[in-house]
Amino acid sequence: PHLLLGQVLSFHANPFHTDPLQAAHIETHGAVLIDQGRILATGPAVQLRPQHPQATVHDYGQALISPGFIDAHVHYPQTPIIASWGKRLIDWLNTYTFPQEARFHDPNYALDIANRYCDLTLAHGTTSFCTYTTIHPTSVDAIFTAAQTRRQRIWAGKTCMDRNAPDNLLDTPKSAYDDSKALLQKWHAQDRLSYVITPRFSPTSTPEQLHALGSLWREYPDCLMQTHLSEQLDEIAWVKDLFPQSRDYLDTYEAQGLLGERALYGHSIHLTPREIARLTEAGASLIHCPTSNAFIGSGLFDMTLAKTLRTGLATDTGGGSSFSMLRTMAAAYDIAQLRGQSLHPAQLWWLATQGSARALHADHQIGNIAPGMEADLTILDLASTPAIAQAVERAETPWQALFPTVMMGDDRAIRAVWVGGEEHRQTAP
Ligand code: GUN
Ligand code: FE
Repeated sequence: PHLLLGQVLSFHANPFHTDPLQAAHIETHGAVLIDQGRILATGPAVQLRPQHPQATVHDYGQALISPGFIDAHVHYPQTPIIASWGKRLIDWLNTYTFPQEARFHDPNYALDIANRYCDLTLAHGTTSFCTYTTIHPTSVDAIFTAAQTRRQRIWAGKTCMDRNAPDNLLDTPKSAYDDSKALLQKWHAQDRLSYVITPRFSPTSTPEQLHALGSLWREYPDCLMQTHLSEQLDEIAWVKDLFPQSRDYLDTYEAQGLLGERALYGHSIHLTPREIARLTEAGASLIHCPTSNAFIGSGLFDMTLAKTLRTGLATDTGGGSSFSMLRTMAAAYDIAQLRGQSLHPAQLWWLATQGSARALHADHQIGNIAPGMEADLTILDLASTPAIAQAVERAETPWQALFPTVMMGDDRAIRAVWVGGEEHRQTAP
């Protein structure tokens, strides 16, 4: 067994339902006992240390021991085109994204970028993620292989598109169904890997393709389904043209069996009252992508939805402008402020850990520090730069000491990462 010492952050309740100071706790002289990939116990160091004299001690001093970050919506193939200048959604897809995704017909290139992406996530303290791929089945094999090597719990699925993209990036309703099913049978529930059924978004799928993927989901109801919803106003107008019979954007999915409790809808910014009512009824998950929504110019997510809907947090790499969930929490704070709401640091931290875990229906495995949970931990230096260190000097509470790292922290704050109960060391290139 290993005994990690530091300030330990854990959750007892949802800080969007309960007073954040009651919902989350920072044990300032805390300890976490882990063995065989799981957390066995947590509590004050003065209690746990004498009880477990045989454990190997890792003393992180004043550093924060947090649940590993969980990035609930990314496109790993877009890693090399992150921070591409000057376009809004549809032009950004056509100019930067589609040419990049076309490169993934080459399995060696796919594995190279998959390995790069997994290393970047761990360097930023992200232990789990849920990713889109490209239309190429090898892009799915690549990311599952890369994550399996590093023991990361991930979700990935073949991105399906059969219209409104270059010819070399199109599948068909039948090939999307067949390829997705074969990949699902190959990878789903292997180790810490899960398959997620992935129609990209309604503009790039015919109703026939959405229908085929809805049928697949009915055959495998324990799988998640992910897609994009109401990200940008031009996109919503386009969906209206493409689906004249649909009541709204959500209906283009709902009509084909692509709405349910295990559905994840990225962005979900410009929702109608009917859409909100149906999403709530269905118990679906919304994924907030704040750096992306600012960078691509999409809009301001309504964080009050987190009171009633499962809500996760995500970078949306590479529409998002950072790999860091700290930077993403800061963007979520900024966007809530622009809508007149000040999110508590415990709420921001919850979104990046347990909120995303709940959105992914994995909150019994990951996203918290508690007995029985899988041991995915990120250890953070809360004075990682001179700017942060001087801001922390005024702090009178643990949350005040954490907030400068939320707003100004990046990968320099990540001191160590434990994945599946083992300390991660960057693999040789
Ligand atoms: N909508 C459809 N595809 C994408 C994508 O790759 N990124 C973002 N941000 N939105 C999308
Ligand atoms: Fe996305």
